[in-house]
Amino acid sequence: MKITKIDISLVVVAAAVLGFLFLGSEKKLGPEVPADEEHQVFYRRLDGGEKRIALEKQCVSCHKPGSLPAAHPHKEECMVCHLPRQKP
Ligand code: HEC
Ligand code: HEC
Repeated sequence: MKITKIDISLVVVAAAVLGFLFLGSEKKLGPEVPADEEHQVFYRRLDGGEKRIALEKQCVSCHKPGSLPAAHPHKEECMVCHLPRQKP
């Protein structure tokens, strides 16, 4: 069978669709927080039963909204996306 331009374009389109679906299924989580005490203490307190929303308010004292990259999601639930690098 001769491979025509149409055959090739079909393969390209199929690959593009599959790639798109694959990327879309991946969760867009942010980088993990550093394994230093400054960060781990929050996750220990979370495990200790403290409210996540209250803890997250303190992230902003160091990470001022303006200091985050321009493309950063405008969301306050830091600890949903930023997980601890290691559990103490
Ligand atoms: C919806 C998910 C999500 C939430 C909620 C979120 N982030 Fe992020 N964060 C990301 C992603 C994705 C990146 C990577 C963005 C990039 O590299 O441009 C990131 C990057 C970062 C970085 C690294 C910035 C850099 O210069 O590389 C810091 C620090 C950060 N976030 C802090 C926070 C803080 C503090 C909060 C809460 C106020 C927060 N994030 C809430 C997804 C999130
Ligand atoms: C005492 C100040 C302070 C507090 C509080 C703090 N951070 Fe950070 N954070 C820093 C500093 C400084 C760095 C950069 C140090 C490094 O890269 O090792 C950093 C780095 C990060 C990074 C890694 C960025 C990257 O590029 O890998 C993330 C994600 C992050 N912080 C999220 C958070 C979240 C979420 C909270 C709240 C639970 C929080 N931080 C609380 C000071 C703080």
